[in-house]
Amino acid sequence: MQINQVFDELYDDYTAKIVRWVPHYRQMVQEVASYLPGDWRAERILDLGCGNGNVTQALRQRFPEAQYHLVDASAEMLQGCRQRFAGQGAFSYEQCFFQDLDLPAASYDLIVACLSIHHLPGEEKRLFLQRLPRALRSGGYFLYSDLMIDKTATDHPAHLGYWKNYAEARGTTAEEWQFVMDHYDEYDYPASLKRQGEWLEGAGFREVVPAYQERWWTTLRCGV
Ligand SMILES: C[S@@+](CC[C@H](N)C(=O)[O-])C[C@H]1O[C@@H](n2cnc3c(N)ncnc32)[C@H](O)[C@@H]1O
Repeated sequence: MQINQVFDELYDDYTAKIVRWVPHYRQMVQEVASYLPGDWRAERILDLGCGNGNVTQALRQRFPEAQYHLVDASAEMLQGCRQRFAGQGAFSYEQCFFQDLDLPAASYDLIVACLSIHHLPGEEKRLFLQRLPRALRSGGYFLYSDLMIDKTATDHPAHLGYWKNYAEARGTTAEEWQFVMDHYDEYDYPASLKRQGEWLEGAGFREVVPAYQERWWTTLRCGV
């Protein structure tokens, strides 16, 4: 199954599931705007892998007048966003894979990607991340929230143990945990903070700062 089909099937009750299954989801996603400077403003915002729109919804509290472009490979997720934000402001939607996304120069003040870029395998991830600084306007930011660890890292077993305890404490059943781990094996390609930080700095971001970090779950604020 392709990643867009996987998320088509996860659309129903998505928020309830991801809050149970993914550590620190609320801190990474629903508090995303708090990781930006207090007096900073955005007019044009790109949500990469928008899912059902939780990140955009959080940003709208702080930037109600901004234009939002929501991108996702999943038709179901995008359709859910269309319904969620209907009649609420300036929204555009694009169903495509990140690898095929057109990113015109200086087109956004803010790019956000929450728990979506880990679906790109290593080299594709590096190449995609490298394209982002050019798409930002001067003074803009990329907020990147994700699991940041290599699967080959010595602390990877500890990460899995921490994750399992977290998920079980929030009501994840044994059957769901098996599903999460099967999904992780087949569709998730996380990379370490160190490696990705080097890629992002090498790509031209002047600032790459962990704005939130709990174990391996991180929000990077990357400024141009
Ligand atoms: C775990 S969800 C995160 C959704 C949302 N950002 C959130 O935090 O709730 C990952 C999303 O990224 C999308 N996605 C994964 N790989 C993608 C790719 N290569 N191109 C476009 N979208 C992708 C999926 O369809 C899914 O909606």
